[in-house]
Amino acid sequence: MKKLIAGNWKMNGSLAANEALLAALAQGMDAAPACDMAVCVPAPYLASVQAQKAGNPNLAALAVGAQDVSAHAVGAFTGEVSAAMLKEFDCRYVIVGHSERRQYHHESDALVADKAKAALAAGITPIVCVGETLAEREAGHTEEVVKRQLAAVIHANGHCISEIVVAYEPVWAIGTGKTASPEEAQSVHAVLRAQLKAATDQFARVRILYGGSMNAANAASLLVQPDIDGGLIGGAALKADDFLKIIAAAQ
Ligand code: PGA
Repeated sequence: MKKLIAGNWKMNGSLAANEALLAALAQGMDAAPACDMAVCVPAPYLASVQAQKAGNPNLAALAVGAQDVSAHAVGAFTGEVSAAMLKEFDCRYVIVGHSERRQYHHESDALVADKAKAALAAGITPIVCVGETLAEREAGHTEEVVKRQLAAVIHANGHCISEIVVAYEPVWAIGTGKTASPEEAQSVHAVLRAQLKAATDQFARVRILYGGSMNAANAASLLVQPDIDGGLIGGAALKADDFLKIIAAAQ
């Protein structure tokens, strides 16, 4: 299975900054990389990122994604963006259930599952984020939390579950510079793999990414773990050199 390195730009960037970042990525990018690559950008920039990609053959292998999607198809949902709209802008991926959305927008496991379903219905691959807080880890609830979060998505999506990407992102590691050790991450990834295996005989298609302070220095030791199939990268995806080093570590 090819690894997937996905950047999560979060609410960062500007037209000018994005253009500079993509130009720098294009310079260092392999035309036929051995891993899949994506950047998940703020929705208003989807068109400009796609336009730059279309004009630069070096960016051909870089897929574009969004960071959230509505669970609804159409209608009176002010501020929301539907999966069909993302699809019109050639979104290949959309992040759902990021811990920042669970925390600041009170997204429930059920809502995240419905968002994954909306994405799949539009032909977009949801990158479903799961992960425990520091308090949950210290209380010994890590497995229970990530399994509950993934179970909701499995329950809502049936056999389509083989088409998702999972991202294990321990909340305490996001943006903190504290990474899960390769062993800590691997043990949670193995739990998620077993859960997927019980849900579908196509489980081998599902990539499980690690996210949370992955950077150029620690990527290789994480990506070598048997059940870590790539990375979801926040801070380090905003620096071309770092993102390219992580891509190199995945090949
Ligand atoms: P980070 O963010 O790499 O900055 O920790 C990862 C994420 O939130 O997806």
